[in-house]
Amino acid sequence: MKLPHLYILSFLASVISALASSVTISAQNQRTETLLKEWEFRKGHDIVASEGWEKVNVPHDWAIYGPFDKANDLQTVAVTQNGEDVATEKTGRTGGLPYMGKGAYRRLLEITAESLDGRRHILYFDGAMSEAQVFVNGEKVCFWPYGYNSFWCDVTDNLKAGANELAVLLENRPQSSRWYPGAGLYRKVRHITLPKIHVPVWGTYVTTPYIGEEYAVVRVRTKINGVEDGAVVTLRTRITDKEGKTVAEETDTRQIHKGEVEQNITVQDPDLWSPEQPVLYFAETEIHTGGSIDTDWDMERPEISIRHGEELQDKVSTRFGFRTIEVRPDEGFLLNGEVRKFRGVCLHHDLGPLGAAVNKAAIRRQLTMLKDMGCDAIRTSHTMPAEELVELCDEMGFMVMCENFDEWDIAKCENGYHRFFNEDSGDGRIWAERDMINMLHHFRNNPSVVMWSIGNEVPSQWKPEGLVVAEWLQDICHNEDPTRPVTCGMDQYNAVVINGFAEQLDIVGFNYKVDRYIPAYELLPQRLILGSETASTVSSRGVYHFPATIGAAIMHDDHQSSSYDTEFCWWSNIPDNDFAADEDYPWCMGQFVWTGFDYLGEPSPYDTDAWPNHSSVFGIIDLASIPKDRYYLYRSQWNRTDETLHVLPHWNWKGREGEVTPVFVYTSYPSAELFVNGVSQGIRTFAESDGKVPCLGEDAMKRFRLMWNDVIYQPGEIRVVAYDSDRNAVAEKVVRTAGKPEAIRLTPDRTILKADGEDLCYLNVSLVDKDGNPVPSDNRLVKVKVSGAGTFRAVANGDPTCLEPFHQPQMHLFSGQLTVLVQSGTVPGEITVEVSGKGVKKASMKIKTE
Ligand code: GAL
Repeated sequence: MKLPHLYILSFLASVISALASSVTISAQNQRTETLLKEWEFRKGHDIVASEGWEKVNVPHDWAIYGPFDKANDLQTVAVTQNGEDVATEKTGRTGGLPYMGKGAYRRLLEITAESLDGRRHILYFDGAMSEAQVFVNGEKVCFWPYGYNSFWCDVTDNLKAGANELAVLLENRPQSSRWYPGAGLYRKVRHITLPKIHVPVWGTYVTTPYIGEEYAVVRVRTKINGVEDGAVVTLRTRITDKEGKTVAEETDTRQIHKGEVEQNITVQDPDLWSPEQPVLYFAETEIHTGGSIDTDWDMERPEISIRHGEELQDKVSTRFGFRTIEVRPDEGFLLNGEVRKFRGVCLHHDLGPLGAAVNKAAIRRQLTMLKDMGCDAIRTSHTMPAEELVELCDEMGFMVMCENFDEWDIAKCENGYHRFFNEDSGDGRIWAERDMINMLHHFRNNPSVVMWSIGNEVPSQWKPEGLVVAEWLQDICHNEDPTRPVTCGMDQYNAVVINGFAEQLDIVGFNYKVDRYIPAYELLPQRLILGSETASTVSSRGVYHFPATIGAAIMHDDHQSSSYDTEFCWWSNIPDNDFAADEDYPWCMGQFVWTGFDYLGEPSPYDTDAWPNHSSVFGIIDLASIPKDRYYLYRSQWNRTDETLHVLPHWNWKGREGEVTPVFVYTSYPSAELFVNGVSQGIRTFAESDGKVPCLGEDAMKRFRLMWNDVIYQPGEIRVVAYDSDRNAVAEKVVRTAGKPEAIRLTPDRTILKADGEDLCYLNVSLVDKDGNPVPSDNRLVKVKVSGAGTFRAVANGDPTCLEPFHQPQMHLFSGQLTVLVQSGTVPGEITVEVSGKGVKKASMKIKTE
């Protein structure tokens, strides 16, 4: 396909000024990387249209601005993996946002004549949703169907000196997803220039084949393009620590074989990477030419003379870490020789009100909250992650299960990835193979990645052909990266245990059904089970339903799930069952909870003819990044350094006076006493395991929650006093019935931002009475004004039924709270934020940017 050139005229005038600053080609031997941020966007594929183009900044998600509408991707389907066999109307399944359809992006790229003198030019996309066709000067240069993967194309031969037209056409078919996928150039786009002799994109592979007490060996494999096999090159690699100090150095002059050179470098006394101490190193490699190797293979006295090259051709820096991983039968997963259980969460890629558009500050905020919860691992369910997420996991210390597919060749969604899985990609390989290889090459240097997952609940689990596909995908992982084990999230327990599917995987990953863990452990050779997906407990922040029934698929008239954390899906369970499995089964490798944060789409259990629900309530933290009660349940079990004492529900139950209103406490202390208006309700202590089938049923709750189920509601206060093991009172928490709402309270997560135009402050907005007690039952509208050195970015309240847009500076509170996202500008200064609501004192605050 060729694109007509006609559009150049209308397009030139509008974009050319933006280009001057964005592309500079520097001196020879310097690779350059330029972010292509400024683009024009238009719905449809009409690239010659003279009107309707909107200037946008990439990363950009065209669908997140809404409006929400039930008709958007309304799906009449039977969700077979949820056990449905009759098609029904699934509302809000993909978020009720207009992600479907076609979209086009265009811009100019200024290229200097000298940069076309042997240098290579690459367009790099960290993710484009989806079916991306990339054009340069009207010529199609590449196609990449899978919206979640990174890909790049060498466009050198399509460029000319001067202004070049870039265009990207995207298309999202309806019914292509089970959740909100986002739309557009939602991850970074880069223009990379490479010297003639260069290391290609993802061209280094750093492993640590030996890590001992005193020293470690770093193996650096470097691909080199632009010279023939057999040519002599000199590689100088310095290993540096985070401060830039050189800890080892090696210069090797070698002949290139199979396009690459390997070096092995010894580092004395390396610091290990772990979630607790995420120590990073860098391999700084220079490629030189001009050297020589002269050999005289005389049988008696062979002579070798090596002269190192001095002509620098290319330089690359690869970040890595020292750590060992091992999977041991009956004992589980070992990091640096120590058994540890994954305290992990599954994350979808969307960032709530920002949609799929990547923002590093937003991901950092998510990880900061998860870290405080004691979480140490992330599963990138069910798609390749943004590189920012993996970088931050390296830096902040999270172990990553890097996952790729929700579908192989058998459909879950009519227009899902199965359409491409087995299709010829044009270079002799099918798309599945190319998608695998890009993921593996992209992330195999990241120390945080400790495991690959080749799929999630693929329907192929049942079929003999599925075994072959699983083996093939796992083999690709083993070939490209023999250092990490491979898993797959499985939900067809009975089938996979007996048909050989589970047996061939390095790690048996079970999604749910802790009751199947024992038979699977007994029957499978690995003698280990990983909870690759657990809990799927549902709750809406601050909403409590009475009685606090424990059960599956419970639905309420208000379309919310109860924050007593007792409701779940028919295939899933309360968190307590998984805690028990972790505690009681030594061979259980830990878990990845579904999910860390609420995400757009998949509004179970309100997914069938249940509009306006359009976001999930599986999250431990809601869509507005506000923790739900469950956050403290996980924190009480997982955070090993800080104490947790959390009490629920809130104590504002006008109309429930005299009625039973259970009180739960999530705590890291061994026991606690509850007082209602000063009257003791008794002491509760965590139950021990009864040693039977430990992880099943409601009984598990007694081991992980302190519960007073018969408390009678009276307004006033509930006070919880926590005791240590000697019954000393060591902590206390009070929750009071609030009076009339009096004022707005603002609580920012940070008060100093980077003036980089992308940093974010998450500003919590809540209502308080005259004594400062939160008023959790008030949902009034609040308005936001942001001025000075930053802008209003978005607002969210975490209500899965709320159809107010995220990008208007106003919204109703949900359970008395919401979050305003304020974005820094590029000029350092002060941002003023003011939030007001009818009938209450407004609040304002300053945020610095520097
Ligand atoms: C799992 C599935 C997830 C999500 C979850 C909801 O079976 O892997 O993607 O759908 O159920 O409980």
